[in-house]
Amino acid sequence: MVTASGLHNIMMAAARKAARALNRDFGEVENLQVSKKGPADFVTAADRRAEEVIVEELSISRPGYGFLLEEGGEIKGSDPSHRFIVDPLDGTTNFLHSIPHFCISIALERQGELVAGVIYDPVRDEMFRAEKGKGAFVNDRRLRVSARTDLQSCLLSTGIPFKGKPGHAQFLRELHRVSQNVAGVRRFGSAALDLAWLAAGRYDGFWERNLQIWDIAAGIVLVREAGGLVTNMDGGKKIDASSILATTPGIYDEVKATLDKAAS
Ligand code: IPD
Ligand code: CA
Ligand code: CA
Repeated sequence: MVTASGLHNIMMAAARKAARALNRDFGEVENLQVSKKGPADFVTAADRRAEEVIVEELSISRPGYGFLLEEGGEIKGSDPSHRFIVDPLDGTTNFLHSIPHFCISIALERQGELVAGVIYDPVRDEMFRAEKGKGAFVNDRRLRVSARTDLQSCLLSTGIPFKGKPGHAQFLRELHRVSQNVAGVRRFGSAALDLAWLAAGRYDGFWERNLQIWDIAAGIVLVREAGGLVTNMDGGKKIDASSILATTPGIYDEVKATLDKAAS
């Protein structure tokens, strides 16, 4: 077992505290499903509450650090070199529909570089964490991406664009190409958990367009520290969330070439 750093302990404590509230609210959502209005407003409030808990907790231990929050936007800190990137509830649509697959994602950026990430799945009680140069773990078990190199035995995950998002036709072209060459493609509805599960060797690759940096920041650190490759879908190192391609090193070139064919 490798002892978590002080930074990780702080990030994990904030995620656990927010998760307690989210778990309670998830129970309530099940009751609200049957009401005419549905649980939408309630979930928005739950999401905000979780974010407030995270900011409060992290600010106690790291008072100068700034924040980039999905709900609250940017909060500048007195220390401009550090910024937490927070998605208090990734998998909102699942949560809203009482599907138990969602998580809390917290990353730390130092001088513009992603250096630490924590993704907590409260339903399975799985705490994923990684720090640059120090490896990736789930509940103290070290993570490595899968060693599979044979694309046809690989399982990939992705995100399907929904109402209001661009790129529906492009996505279908990509799926058409990829699905003919792999063992399966999953769309479970949480980009952060998709990346955490790739780091854990459950998936072999993940691609998605038009995400936000809070969806993937912590997951990027996890995948890299577990030995995976992360680029944008053009193959560039700069990831601005407009697209992401993350795979094990063994299948990166083949997956990239398959996706490229969908563009032509
Ligand atoms: C969403 C999830 C989903 C992805 C969406 C994101 P949210 O985040 O990560 O997997 O496909 O594009 O918006 O809204 O649940 O925090
Ligand atoms: Ca998200
Ligand atoms: Ca969210």
